[in-house]
Amino acid sequence: MTAGPGLLQSARFYITFRCNSLCGYCNVWQDDKFKGYEELTLERARQILDELYELGVRYVDFTGGEPVLHPHIDGIVQYAKSLGMTVEITSNGIRFAKHIDAIVPYVDTMNVSLDTLRPDRYRQIRGVPTLDRALDVIQRVIATGSGNLKLICVVTRENVDEVPDLLRFAHENRITIYFSGMFEYFDEQDTVRDMNRTARKLKLIEQNGKPLADARAGRLEESEATGGTIADELIRLLYQPFALINLHFRKYMETLDPKAPTDCFANKRILTVGPDGRLVLPCYHAFDNSVEWDRPLRELVQDPEFLRVRDEEVGHRSECRSCTVFPYIGLSFSYRFDRIFLYQALSEEIAKIKTRFADPLHPHLALPLDELHERYSELERLIDRALPTPRPPLNSDHFYRFEDTGTGFRTELLAGEIGLAELIGDHAHGECWGVQRSPHTWMRLVYRDLVPALRDLVDEPAYEAAVAELYAVQLAWWQGYLARYYQSGDQADTAGPEKVLTGFLERTAAALPDSPRAGRVREVLLHAGCVLGLPPETLVPLAVRTPFPEAALIAKHLLLIAAEADLPRYADLLPEQAAEPLRRATGSRLPDTDDAPLDPETAALLGLADQATVDQATAERLVAAVATLAPEQRGTLAQRLLTHELGDPWTLRHRGRALRGRGQTHSTVGPAGMPPV
Ligand SMILES: C[S@@+](CC[C@H](N)C(=O)[O-])C[C@H]1O[C@@H](n2cnc3c(N)ncnc32)[C@H](O)[C@@H]1O
Ligand code: SF4
Repeated sequence: MTAGPGLLQSARFYITFRCNSLCGYCNVWQDDKFKGYEELTLERARQILDELYELGVRYVDFTGGEPVLHPHIDGIVQYAKSLGMTVEITSNGIRFAKHIDAIVPYVDTMNVSLDTLRPDRYRQIRGVPTLDRALDVIQRVIATGSGNLKLICVVTRENVDEVPDLLRFAHENRITIYFSGMFEYFDEQDTVRDMNRTARKLKLIEQNGKPLADARAGRLEESEATGGTIADELIRLLYQPFALINLHFRKYMETLDPKAPTDCFANKRILTVGPDGRLVLPCYHAFDNSVEWDRPLRELVQDPEFLRVRDEEVGHRSECRSCTVFPYIGLSFSYRFDRIFLYQALSEEIAKIKTRFADPLHPHLALPLDELHERYSELERLIDRALPTPRPPLNSDHFYRFEDTGTGFRTELLAGEIGLAELIGDHAHGECWGVQRSPHTWMRLVYRDLVPALRDLVDEPAYEAAVAELYAVQLAWWQGYLARYYQSGDQADTAGPEKVLTGFLERTAAALPDSPRAGRVREVLLHAGCVLGLPPETLVPLAVRTPFPEAALIAKHLLLIAAEADLPRYADLLPEQAAEPLRRATGSRLPDTDDAPLDPETAALLGLADQATVDQATAERLVAAVATLAPEQRGTLAQRLLTHELGDPWTLRHRGRALRGRGQTHSTVGPAGMPPV
């Protein structure tokens, strides 16, 4: 089975393998296979970027080696931006100063590596005495006011005691610092650092103490500072402003099965492009250049040998076992619906809220960190114990497992079934944050729309009060959402989370002025309340009767969860297009058909003359067809499919029975995921 080129939306571009540092934990300067590469001319790099764009790539991450050692890095970055891509770059900062004007305004995220604030320790970790240069670049990037700077700190036994100082540094400068665990390349990682290679490296190894002989200890490494593990140390930073950590990396480490193939997405969803423009397969850390590459990328990604390596070798080679190289492994959590996905999603949302702290107008909040940790632990228990473990998808192009039940499709995302339209719609989004049955949407609205609007609309005390509540509100949202929509059955006690959310909505609505921009805030808040099924009377101050983007999704959620008597009252809160299906669904008409046929335009987007019988094979065929669409087409398709679903509100009511029947445990649902009728 093949991933269509349309699913390749990201690329990591190792623009050079040359480096001016000698970091003990990094293999790029230590392994001979990274040497002797011919690097791209500006013209050729542009062509490669064009080809990536044509394949559907909209996010490119420039890394290396040290990217600014490439003679044309400025022009390459600028070209990627001119194509409309989201651009990220990571630098050690040593030679970056003269590139600031040419690069910083053109990237969405500017990462600078910073593991320590102590010159001697910097030299010990990174092998070169250049802390002052890195710090100077950091200050200069801050001075540009670009707001896109992020620091990356790899936390090991060598620097874990410095986490508080680094955090203070981030606070003082109002920049985000990502505390990363150290990833291991392969089982052979210790031997990568061959002690006999050169006197220079030998010296570095001596300076580094013994991380090289003991590289695998990174996973369980104990922190001398507290006696706990580094992972424990990092989780305490979860709600600290300015600190970013990856919940999913921690979860992944906890659940890693050393004997199982690794769910690595290198070249499945994220292309890895080497300094000469060729794809490095199976991934950058272990490549053998086995595929003829001197062809357009579009052809190359369809090449049988490329597909074979990708499908049979990526994650399956013996050296892939236990690999923790996070850029590749981490990405799989965005495209696989499992528990780690939920931690990934939660991490992202927390990260997004935290970016608000870097805003100079953001209040300096005193957060109740202990209480937030307590609530987070509750949520973690819900995710770990109360939600069923999703099974792996049937093939690597599938986002989640789906099975034809005869009346719809059973998935792990909902207590009940979903229809073909939702299944295809989710695969059209093809990523965790786009899937309908995911707690992401509302939180995305919070950081993208709600908070910036509130900052302009309400007085300072009201703004500060709203922002101060956000973490607690977010946790409540997740708890309410998971309990209501996932197969948690008798765990579905949503009273506590709903109370937190209701209070937040009431207070925020009361502070809003009567202005057009306040309308957008009401839409976001209305979405929050409706999707969790808060009583319609509490949402009256938030009613929005003019069309807005989330209205259709709100209507669908209400059709699934709301009590029948409440549907007309919810309809009064919504624009007509969304209200109409709610009114129409009132009454007891049962669906005549499993799924209404797709309209001709939607069918045409999928390359179908008409919709064939809905069964497993058809669904798989349609999922494969979706994978070949360009990102923009996929967005249109998903929207059409949602409208299509609302055309038959009775089927949605029918599907929502399992959600409305509180007290049903997962184990009592029938084979089709429905409660016994
Ligand atoms: C490979 S470097 C390339 C960019 C640039 N040379 C730099 O150091 O920032 C990208 C990032 O990966 C981090 N890194 C390197 N080896 C790592 C490892 N074994 N575990 C975790 N992070 C690592 C670096 O500290 C850096 O932040
Ligand atoms: S500066 Fe970056 S690429 Fe160079 S050795 Fe250090 S981590 Fe590796």
